[in-house]
Amino acid sequence: METRPPIAYALDFKSLDEARASALRVAPAIGMIKVGLELFVHEGPKVVALGREVGLPVFLDLKLHDIPETVERAVAQASGLGARLVTVHASGGRTMLKRAVARAASEGGDLAICAVTVLTSLDDGDLRDIGMAGPANDAAVRLARMAFDEGVRWFVCSPAEVASLRSALGKDAVLVTPGVRPANAALGDQKRVATPEQAVADGASWVVVGRPIRDAEDPLAAARAIGEKIMVGRA
Ligand code: C5P
Repeated sequence: METRPPIAYALDFKSLDEARASALRVAPAIGMIKVGLELFVHEGPKVVALGREVGLPVFLDLKLHDIPETVERAVAQASGLGARLVTVHASGGRTMLKRAVARAASEGGDLAICAVTVLTSLDDGDLRDIGMAGPANDAAVRLARMAFDEGVRWFVCSPAEVASLRSALGKDAVLVTPGVRPANAALGDQKRVATPEQAVADGASWVVVGRPIRDAEDPLAAARAIGEKIMVGRA
């Protein structure tokens, strides 16, 4: 998987048919497809089989956050579906993280646990309201370190935090950043964005891209252009 362009394409569609058509179109230029809550809630677990259809690993972005037993059992199901990654909230705590990692390993597939640190939609005031010590960058590093201690190796973080996480966790961490926009692209509702070349230069291993590919006149060309920018960032 690592030899393909490190772009996780967010299949932010309601229906499986739309998601399939778009994924097939851009598959040659991406490395993973990301299935989020909208598609999963609407279509159910069968969406994960899309990965086999298009020949790409599936990043199942369910952001699990529950008691350890429940998360562990959900992880077992995600493994059975054949997902490559499933997201969990690092704030679910050490036991939850440890059991998620152990269960993914014991199921015998290639599922990895990916920890979400601090949602990029939360600012320092929101963190105060929920009783989490900020600023957001410090909270993200703290949560990521804890998850790393419990065996997590994949992390979702904003481009603004990727350099801090890379320096805190070292080269074994796989850092995935959404909020990535080519220099000329519309921002949509993303506020803190980086170009693909900047995100990778700052330490991102993978970028998550949705609308700049999905809504492009030529989605395959848009994905290819992002892949080329990533190569510039790595150089
Ligand atoms: O369209 P866009 O490129 O903004 O899509 C980014 C994808 O990454 C969406 O699926 C969004 O839900 C997801 N995401 C995000 N910010 C986070 C976590 C996930 O934008 N902090």
